[in-house]
Amino acid sequence: MMGILDGKVAVVTGGSRGMGEIHVRELVNEGAKVIISDLNEELGEKVSEDIGDNTIFVKHDVTNFDDWENIIIKARETFGSIDILVNNAGVGGPHKKINDLSIADYKTTIDVDLNGVFLGMKALIPHMIDNNGGSIINISSVAGLRHDDVTPNAAYTAAKHGVIGLTRAGAVEYANKNIKINAICPGTVLTPLLEENLSEEELEAVGSTSPIGRFANSKEISQAIIFLASDKSSYINGEYIVVDGGTAAS
Ligand SMILES: NC(=O)c1ccc[n+]([C@@H]2O[C@H](COP(=O)([O-])OP(=O)(O)OC[C@H]3O[C@@H](n4cnc5c(N)ncnc54)[C@H](O)[C@@H]3O)[C@@H](O)[C@H]2O)c1
Repeated sequence: MMGILDGKVAVVTGGSRGMGEIHVRELVNEGAKVIISDLNEELGEKVSEDIGDNTIFVKHDVTNFDDWENIIIKARETFGSIDILVNNAGVGGPHKKINDLSIADYKTTIDVDLNGVFLGMKALIPHMIDNNGGSIINISSVAGLRHDDVTPNAAYTAAKHGVIGLTRAGAVEYANKNIKINAICPGTVLTPLLEENLSEEELEAVGSTSPIGRFANSKEISQAIIFLASDKSSYINGEYIVVDGGTAAS
């Protein structure tokens, strides 16, 4: 069966669970080979074993630059090179207002959700230049466009806005190297990230805020990733695609 990502190799960070796991599965369904990267070794190995030879799991902390270099080494050994990077790993952080948010929690969220994306771009761009191109997809959020005071904290909002800034910077700087860099702003998807940080009442309140009246399904986010990863989006660069059922428009 032909897929639109046949012959391509992708890295999906945070691929052990939640949306990342679904992105891995959908990219493989479109013909890609995928390096699943995550801190969570147990779940990541399980996902890779379940999918089979088109994936490997590599333990990886996105806040550690040496770990990023290891991803490139493992990709070279197993699949040759990397064409697609999906910077998906993220933490929500506690749902607290600025005065109640600890400095430590603020810094952790910025480190994973923003600095992790920077390190991924910094590690992978030279590799993609050597390979004559690539596609980087950074996962931002509707919280990258506005502060939603039902769910995220200020650190999350700042990090996700920053992801759009990094996307634009990289896109402008490396367009002439045949590297396109775009972001995706998902609306609310019911994943462990939300379940761990929100009460049942909060979840119920959030689920119904989209004009569509339900949470997004992870696969609906994967479709935008596949499009941006593929050659069908060859002239789209430095953009973000909002996949939120109309929340940001309302
Ligand atoms: N769930 C939502 O409603 C929603 C909405 C918009 C954007 N997002 C974003 O989508 C992405 C995925 O979120 P999710 O809801 O699937 O979350 P999740 O918590 O289910 O999964 C996140 C994964 O990232 C991994 N991870 C965390 N810190 C890491 C680190 N330092 N290095 C490597 N891996 C790490 C975790 O182990 C986990 O497997 C995140 O960037 C999140 O901010 C989520």
